[in-house]
Amino acid sequence: MKKYLAVANWKMNPGTEGEALDLFSTTLNAAKSARNVEVVVCPPFPFLSAIERRWGIHDLEMRSEAAVHLGAQDLFWERDGAYTGEVSGPMEKELGVSYVIIGHSERRRLLGETDEMVNKKLQRAFETGLHPILCIGEKERMGDDIPEIVGDQLKKATQGISGMFIESLVVAYEPVWAIGTGKPDTPESMHKAAIYIRKVLAEMHGEGSVSHARVLYGGSITSTNVASFIRETSGEVQGVLVGGASLKDDFAKIISSLEEIES
Ligand code: 13P
Repeated sequence: MKKYLAVANWKMNPGTEGEALDLFSTTLNAAKSARNVEVVVCPPFPFLSAIERRWGIHDLEMRSEAAVHLGAQDLFWERDGAYTGEVSGPMEKELGVSYVIIGHSERRRLLGETDEMVNKKLQRAFETGLHPILCIGEKERMGDDIPEIVGDQLKKATQGISGMFIESLVVAYEPVWAIGTGKPDTPESMHKAAIYIRKVLAEMHGEGSVSHARVLYGGSITSTNVASFIRETSGEVQGVLVGGASLKDDFAKIISSLEEIES
């Protein structure tokens, strides 16, 4: 049975290492009792090493015993060199990181991250042995259909990447207008988005590579709405990417809501 994926994107929160350790500990307790949910926490870079030191995530990963996987919120496409302020995939790997968010809309919008950069980061993540969580989504929605820009982002991000890697890709559809607004997309529209994402991937990389790829929904997810994005999307959605609610007790409830869904 395939587990649902619950990814916590803490963004630039919380404010201190102590708070980060407390928050991670709370999430770990909730994740320990979950059998059907794979939990990933993506803290800001400075807290990764504190969490690794406290829980020894790297060794737990080596023994396949990690109840919570560590994720990074970004990586740089080169392995090392003169790139002030950047963090490489191998550095993340050493800290026990196994997932990495790539192309989040906040980075695209505020920091000018382009599709070409996203493509290079995706390639590097795969080559480093990290599981990338590729974020795509439109700024505005006109009408009912998923805008073509979403397909464009996906095509450009996965251009030239081998089908073998695409098999383990995680794509998070996060419409920008639904992020942090308290106004999530509907499960009906997410169902369409997931079908569209798989169609674009299949056209580019072949049916075989798409069957294992996972599609997540993100944008104003809470424990109240999370189940509907799984139950009402006919098996097309395998999990969620959570921002605001992952900083609160609500994330434990999100994990238990997913746990209660029969897959
Ligand atoms: P919110 O859950 O706060 O809407 O954020 C979603 C998000 O951007 C996760 O990456």
